[in-house]
Amino acid sequence: MKFFIDTANLDQIREAQALGILDGVTTNPSLMAKEGITGADNIKNHYKAICEIVDGDVSAEVIATDFEGMVKEGEELAALHSQIVVKLPMIADGVKACKYFSDKGIKTNVTLVFSAGQALLAAKAGATYVSPFIGRLDDISTDGLNLISEIRHIYDNYMFETEILAASVRHTMHVIDCAKIGADVMTGPLKAIEGLLKHPLTDSGLEKFLADYKKANETDSPEAPGVGF
Ligand code: G3P
Repeated sequence: MKFFIDTANLDQIREAQALGILDGVTTNPSLMAKEGITGADNIKNHYKAICEIVDGDVSAEVIATDFEGMVKEGEELAALHSQIVVKLPMIADGVKACKYFSDKGIKTNVTLVFSAGQALLAAKAGATYVSPFIGRLDDISTDGLNLISEIRHIYDNYMFETEILAASVRHTMHVIDCAKIGADVMTGPLKAIEGLLKHPLTDSGLEKFLADYKKANETDSPEAPGVGF
């Protein structure tokens, strides 16, 4: 399972990268605005800065909503860096643009996917990634994880190569449940990734190991290993 971080915050991207488990980054216009990144040139430079931090795919979303606009913008984004994936909305022109880019060998991420039918269309258009938003479905009393299961089932039936990128992940249980279902990728906030580290028995166990080591090595026993291992 690939781990992407869903943010435009460079410090958080660096922190996740330093853990050694990061496979890529997803952004969207809201996340860019949250970091105060505005204006086409600043936005492009920010994408390049993200690509310099991580080794994997970096999704950059188009703002245009018509086919020609998406193609122009997507080509500009893809030219910024080899790691850029063109992120397109799940609307008719987005599907057309997805097909256009996949025919040209440019990676795509079809976003704002909320149904199995939309995911089927994205796969037919040759999307590299499809992004079902699980948290936003949960927000309206609809089981987001069930959508991941449905898409997994459909894609496996036909061996579609489009990767299921579980998006709008909000917490650690989303990550674990997506892994159980077989999502290819999850993208979430740093807290959902770092939350996976936590267990009180790890903390208390480590505390006891260190206390026992210290106690044993404070004696003059000849069997005791030397301090400094
Ligand atoms: O990956 C999509 C994501 O940015 C949306 O997350 O939490 O705004 O639903 P959220």
